[in-house]
This record gives sequence, C-alpha cells and structure tokens, in this order.
Amino acid sequence: MLKIENLVVNYGAIQAIKGINVEVKQGEIVTLIGANGAGKSTILRTISSIIKPASGKIAFDGRDIAGMPPHKIVELGVSQAPEGRMIFSNLSVQENLDMGAYTRKDRDNIKYDLELIFTLFPRLKERLKQPGGTLSGGEQQMLAISRALMSKPKLLLLDEPSLGIAPILVKQIFEKIKALKDATGLTILLVEQNANLALSISNYAYVLETGDIKLEGDAKELASNPEVRKAYLGE
Ligand SMILES: Nc1ncnc2c1ncn2[C@@H]1O[C@H](COP(=O)(O)OP(=O)(O)OP(=O)(O)O)[C@@H](O)[C@H]1O
Ligand SMILES: [Mg+2]
Repeated sequence: MLKIENLVVNYGAIQAIKGINVEVKQGEIVTLIGANGAGKSTILRTISSIIKPASGKIAFDGRDIAGMPPHKIVELGVSQAPEGRMIFSNLSVQENLDMGAYTRKDRDNIKYDLELIFTLFPRLKERLKQPGGTLSGGEQQMLAISRALMSKPKLLLLDEPSLGIAPILVKQIFEKIKALKDATGLTILLVEQNANLALSISNYAYVLETGDIKLEGDAKELASNPEVRKAYLGE
C-alpha cells in the first residue's frame, strides 16, 4: 500500500533521513522505533507532505505522492494523528471531529463513522461540547486519533500515541488501535518509543538510527532480538 524508496530528507544542511526504504502492506500495522531525533516524525511528516523530500519515491496505492499538496494526500486516503496531538484547543470536541472530515464529500456516511468512533472511545461522546483544550491528555490523544479517522483513511499515520499518557492508559490506547485495525481492516504506520507495546500489536517493524534503517523484520522476531531488547526495551 505504501512504498518508500531511497528517501532523503534534509533540514537545511542537515540530512535527517539518509536514503531509507520502508514498506507497509495493506491491513498491517507497521512500527518505526528509534531514539529521540532518529527521524521518525520526519518520515511521517514527509509522507503527509508537510515537508518535501530532497529525493526518493513515496508510492501510495501505486501512485507517487511525494511532494503532492497535503490536502490531496488526505483525499487519497492517508491521514495523520501528529505528535503532540495538535488538536484545536478552542474548538469543541464535535468541531475538532468535523474538521477531520473536511475533505469528504460523502456527508451521509460521516454520521456512521462518528458512531464507530464513539463505540471505540465512548468518553468522547460524553464530551462533545467541551473545548478540546480542556480534555485530559489521554482524552486529547483519543480525539487526535479520532479526528484523523474522520477523514476515513486507508492508511493511518500515528506519531507516538502514547506520549504523555499515564502508563495504565497507554495499554488501553494500544488495545484500541489493535481493535480498530481488527474491526475496519485499516492499515497503520505507527511511530513509538514504547517499543514493547508497539511491537506487541505490530506485524512488521523498522529500527531507525540517526536517519538510517538499522534493522527490520517481523515484529515478534525484532521483539526477541537481543540487540533490540538492549537498546529499546530497557534490558
Ligand atoms: N524543522 C527542523 N529544522 C531543523 N532540524 C529539524 C527540524 N525538525 C527536525 N529536525 C531535526 O531532524 C532530526 C529528526 O527529527 P525528528 O523529529 O524526525 O525525530 P524523531 O525520531 O521523531 O524524535 P522524537 O522521538 O524526539 O520525536 C532531529 O535531529 C531534529 O533536531
Ligand atoms: Mg517525533
């Protein structure tokens, strides 16, 4: 579904991504793990075209999307819940969700998708009129994921959904992500520092180090790889 080839991304003179290859197959959860500054968010931002690559290919459903306008990429079926959530704090929960659906023309189905989101995150339904900025951290994360879902993506990009969330809730967020994939067949590219939990729900994973892919493989195999356990799983 997504095929990234020889991707290079620069910030001025700094090469943040150094010619990587990443593939995401339909119906899979694929995780990028790596330390702070490894380039994980840069990859997701480049897929969404928030930043433009210096070179390389990004094919989605067989179509080259590198450098397309960001709204076009959402229309094609790729949406992102960005790091730090970036919800609209002065807008209500309902308005934030409406913003997620702004590229859609199938107004009739939006209500149906909203109901699906409420079965996943019932808390949001109770708080529809509340300003987004007054939600708790975990609730804001639920809202950011739900807002991305409102565009009815084929591929969902999730940048550190567990960031700033209490450990007890982190597990729940991952269970919801897994449930979402199982219920809808959604394809997910996940970025996480919580490697243990991320690998537990993933099919395949890549280990990123200073802009390069150091290791890749079946998520279960990587989770049992001693090198990965030592560097990313705190052993
Ligand atoms: N706008 C920018 N201008 C210059 N350098 C940047 C910019 N954004 C990111 N960088 C640099 O690019 C590198 C990769 O950053 P990126 O945000 O992709 O890392 P990350 O893997 O998502 O890290 P984290 O886990 O801390 O979120 C870092 O060294 C960062 O300082
Ligand atoms: Mg990041």
